[in-house]
Amino acid sequence: MTDRYAVMGNPVAHSKSPRIHALFARQTGEDIDYSAILVEPGRLASAVGEFHASSGRGLNITIPFKEDAWELATHRSERAKLAGAVNTLVLDPTGRHFGDNTDGVGLVRDLTLNHGCALTGKRLLLIGAGGAAQGVIEPLLNEHPALLVVANRTAAKAVTLARRFCGLGRIEGCGLDGPDGQSFDVVINATAASLSGAVPALPANVVSTNTWCYDMMYGDEPTAFVRWCKERGATRSLDGLGMLVEQAAESFYLWRNVRPDTGPVIAQLRDQ
Ligand code: ATR
Repeated sequence: MTDRYAVMGNPVAHSKSPRIHALFARQTGEDIDYSAILVEPGRLASAVGEFHASSGRGLNITIPFKEDAWELATHRSERAKLAGAVNTLVLDPTGRHFGDNTDGVGLVRDLTLNHGCALTGKRLLLIGAGGAAQGVIEPLLNEHPALLVVANRTAAKAVTLARRFCGLGRIEGCGLDGPDGQSFDVVINATAASLSGAVPALPANVVSTNTWCYDMMYGDEPTAFVRWCKERGATRSLDGLGMLVEQAAESFYLWRNVRPDTGPVIAQLRDQ
C-alpha cells in the first residue's frame, strides 16, 4: 500500500507542498501519496490521529498549527526544541510521533548552497520575533556570524529572544529603529508583513549595495520586501521559494531516508 503524507494547515489550499513532494517522488522513484488537508482550529490532534490510522506516515504542519504540533509530538529533535515549533511529524506505527523543525536548515541551505551567500563572520539582521523568526535563529547562529541582530516592531520580544539564544553566539535584540546607521551583510525578513503587502518600518540605511536581502515569504509576484530591497540597490533580493523547497527536502529525507535534488525542483516551480 502506498505510504501517505500530507500538509496540514489553515488555510492550506494555496500550499505548494503537494507539488514539491510529487516532484521529489518522481525524481527519486519513491512511491508516496502527498495531499493537503484543511484542519479546523483546535482539531489538529484528531486530524493527525485519523491520518495515522489511514496509512499516514508523515506530516508537514503549517500555519497556525506549528506550536500545537510541538505539543502533539511524543519526542522532538534538538532543533525543534529550540525553535519551539514543529513543522514535520514522522508518524511511527506504534503511535509515537517524532517532531522536527526543518525551516531553519531550509533557510540556511538556500542562502549558502543555492545562492552562495556565506554567513560565517557576517553581520546578519533578522526582522521579526514571532514563530518564524524563532525557528531560524539557532541554524543561523550555527553558521558563526560575527553578529545576529534581531529587530522587531515590539522590541521587548526581540530582546527576550536574544536573551534566550545568547549562549549559542553573538546576538542582540532591539526595535525596528535599533539598527539605524548600522550596515549589514544579510537582512532576512521573518515578519508576517509581506502577507498584507507591507514592509516592516526599517531605517532605509540598513540596506546598501553590499547587502543580501531575503524574504522568508514568497509569492507569484515579488513580495513588498523584495521590491523595497531592490529599490535600495541590494546586491541580491531573494524570496523564500528556495527555503520552502529545502525544508520540504529535509522532511522528505526524514520520512524516506532519500535526499532529493532540490535545484531542478526550484527551477520548475519558478517556471510555472
Ligand atoms: P509567525 O509564526 O509567522 O512568525 P507570529 O508569531 O504572529 O507569526 O509573528 C509575526 C511577526 O511579524 C511578529 O514579529 C510581528 O511583530 P510584533 O511582534 O510587533 O507583532 C511581525 N509583523 C507582523 N506584521 C508586521 C508589520 N506590518 N510590520 C512589522 N512587523 C510585523
